[in-house]
Amino acid sequence: MSVEITESSVAAALAGALEAIAAATDSASLKAARSAHLGDASALAALNAALKDVPNDQKAAAGKLVGQARAQANQAYAAAEERIVTAEQNAQLENERVDVTAAPSRWRKGARHPLMLLQEAFCDAFVGMGWEIAEGPELESEWFNFDALNFDEDHPARAMQDTFFVEPADSHLVLRTHTSPVQIRAMLEREVPIYVLAPGRVYRTDELDATHTPVFTQIEGLAIDKGLTMAHLRGTLEHAARLMFGEGAKIRLRPNYFPFTEPSAELDVWHPTFVGGARWIEWGGCGMVNANVLRSAGIDPEVYSGFAFGMGVERTLMFRNQVADMHDMVEGDVRFSQQFGMVV
Ligand code: DAH
Repeated sequence: MSVEITESSVAAALAGALEAIAAATDSASLKAARSAHLGDASALAALNAALKDVPNDQKAAAGKLVGQARAQANQAYAAAEERIVTAEQNAQLENERVDVTAAPSRWRKGARHPLMLLQEAFCDAFVGMGWEIAEGPELESEWFNFDALNFDEDHPARAMQDTFFVEPADSHLVLRTHTSPVQIRAMLEREVPIYVLAPGRVYRTDELDATHTPVFTQIEGLAIDKGLTMAHLRGTLEHAARLMFGEGAKIRLRPNYFPFTEPSAELDVWHPTFVGGARWIEWGGCGMVNANVLRSAGIDPEVYSGFAFGMGVERTLMFRNQVADMHDMVEGDVRFSQQFGMVV
């Protein structure tokens, strides 16, 4: 079907094209407007095709009319294309804008507590010497916590003011008051020779104050072998002291009493940089494993001997890093950890 080229048919085709082009808001709608109004099937294309049927004397005028309309539509298209491409590029740039001066958003992952790091440093050094890590429960049976360690029925440490007993009374469970029960567990579970460290939480009915906390951490050491003497104990403790406090550390042993060791000693450490100057501080307890304890774990004291020691990790941190108040260690304020260079 051929169309008739008149001023009004050309104007209508052009108006339709301009309207669709002007209405396009993005490249997709512009592309659709183009194929509908400038493409092969468009009204303007049909008018152009109709030129060949126009009588020769009117060809020039009709050609001019259609040509001008097509040129105008093409110009409008080119202008719209530039407008839309620019707008789309700007939107994309805006979308992908990165503020390089903005503070980075950081995930607070948390970090281990200085007490835990100190405990790990101690254990790592002993593991490096071939010792193993042993564990026991914090909710412990009275037998492991006291009886097997040779505590008398009426030993003061069993008394109510020290020990958290667990109900019902006939459960015979306590919150362990020290890590020494792990000595017994280790001897029952392992074959001799035994070289173990047992770090862990212990509980006593103390009020929280500057130097006490009802929950604290100990590291227990136990060595059972043929021919172990007090000299081996002393050498081991000296090594541990240098590890924790620095090369300048010295130790001394003072006679003391613990039911599970015989002889028993109080362990003191000296270091030139302790608060209050170069001086001796009490660090822990130690001794040669009592023959009764070896027997209660099924080890023959005629063949084997052993030494044991136990120290407080909080106390170690206090003297090592000049922490004056126990509250700082237990209250969980991240600023405490940050003083140790920890990124929290
Ligand atoms: N268990 C003792 C306490 O908590 C410390 C201790 C002393 C541990 C002598 C030992 C030791 O292994 O041999 O006070």
